[in-house]
Amino acid sequence: MPLDIAVIGTGHVGLITAGTLARVGHTVIGVDDDKGKIESLRAGRMPFFEAGLTELVTQEIASGRLRFTEDITEAVAKAEVAFICVGTPGRPTGEPNMLAVEGVATALGRAAIHDMVVVEKSTVPVQTADRIRAVLARTSPHAFHVASNPEFLREGRAVEDSLHPDRILVGADNAWAHGIMRRLYEPMIEAGARYFATDVSTAELAKHACNAFLALKISFANGLARVCEASGADVVDVADIMGSDPRIGRDFLDAGLGWGGSCFPKDLAAFRAQSERLGYRFGLLDEVVKINDEALTSTFNKIREALWNLEGKRVVLLGLAFKPGTDDVRESPALRLAQMLLDGGAIVLGVDPQAGPAAAARVEGLEVVDDAYAAADGADCLVVCTEWPVFATLDLVRLKGILTVPILVDGRNLFDATAAREAGFSYFPTGRPALP
Ligand code: UGA
Repeated sequence: MPLDIAVIGTGHVGLITAGTLARVGHTVIGVDDDKGKIESLRAGRMPFFEAGLTELVTQEIASGRLRFTEDITEAVAKAEVAFICVGTPGRPTGEPNMLAVEGVATALGRAAIHDMVVVEKSTVPVQTADRIRAVLARTSPHAFHVASNPEFLREGRAVEDSLHPDRILVGADNAWAHGIMRRLYEPMIEAGARYFATDVSTAELAKHACNAFLALKISFANGLARVCEASGADVVDVADIMGSDPRIGRDFLDAGLGWGGSCFPKDLAAFRAQSERLGYRFGLLDEVVKINDEALTSTFNKIREALWNLEGKRVVLLGLAFKPGTDDVRESPALRLAQMLLDGGAIVLGVDPQAGPAAAARVEGLEVVDDAYAAADGADCLVVCTEWPVFATLDLVRLKGILTVPILVDGRNLFDATAAREAGFSYFPTGRPALP
């Protein structure tokens, strides 16, 4: 039976959650205090790029199951479930800033006119539910059941991941809330999603544990890459061999410029800070972050070594987004590299199928160019920062012809070494033998 749902916050997580729950038949109201954003959404304009999102949202608005408002009171009037999907940006200490979550809990408490399930969807530190529960108890006479329902969406594939999840995680502290949450996801469970019903703290912690472990796998591959470079071994082959063991798995063993984005850096910092607050110094996580920084420095050093002096050299970055398939440049290794090169006196040009405008707005001095060949004309070095498939189809012979110096630093092991060599490049991959 369909439920009435309010989704507070229409960022990446909130908007996709709202669209997905409407798609499976529930009645959903998305809430945001940004008036301009609400007007754009009503008109079918998305605040960010995500494959399939415009179609999902516009179709569900047309179906009558999804609408948007700025008014939280209107949104919760009928809602049986309210999702908290607001941002938790990192503080300099690593702890997330939970002001927006507290604000929503207060607003929900004041606006509610009946009992409901309040769901943490934003990634939050373990024990946040206790805080939310306390705020709700202070601000409302109604009974609230706080549930944790972390998402496992990958940017760029978030709509697909959300519509067809392989697992759903729900933490709640009583059977009634568990019953409501199960009803909410029944269509996905019937379609084969694995459903984990647990307590709230376990669900909160599991989300941080998943992201920390994925980041750890990548850092392991990046540490290996340094040893491979020093010994002449090939990190891609090592990762393939490791990955063929089902106990290890091949995913997230791609060495490169390191991990970025809106999740891993923030979640790692939050997890470290929360573990420490709880009395455990999770030193392994410090190493994971350190190796990630070294992956970037290593690529920077390769460029500097190949160019001799950076001052006045034209360096083209292929890819600016933190990964392919998105226009998101938050904590993008490409932008950190751009800044290091600019600080070193280089002229830095960037090419990206989606993230050009966002990158230009963040890095002063970065020159964004639409076309890779135009950017490469007269340049001294090409650096692959994001493995967009379209870059793999670039004509290396043509590029070699227009570069002043044919240096290719492959921060994502996108190109075939032999093809790069045959085209006449000095080729510097990551964790694989260089062909200078
Ligand atoms: C990540 C998780 O993969 C999702 O499961 C999770 O739901 C999400 O965070 C979140 O917490 O919201 P996402 O940040 O979209 O998803 O990106 P990933 O695909 O995980 O990539 C993260 C970073 O790791 C990227 O910079 C990517 O280039 C890098 N990466 C990934 C590597 O350097 N090597 C790899 O082998 C894989």
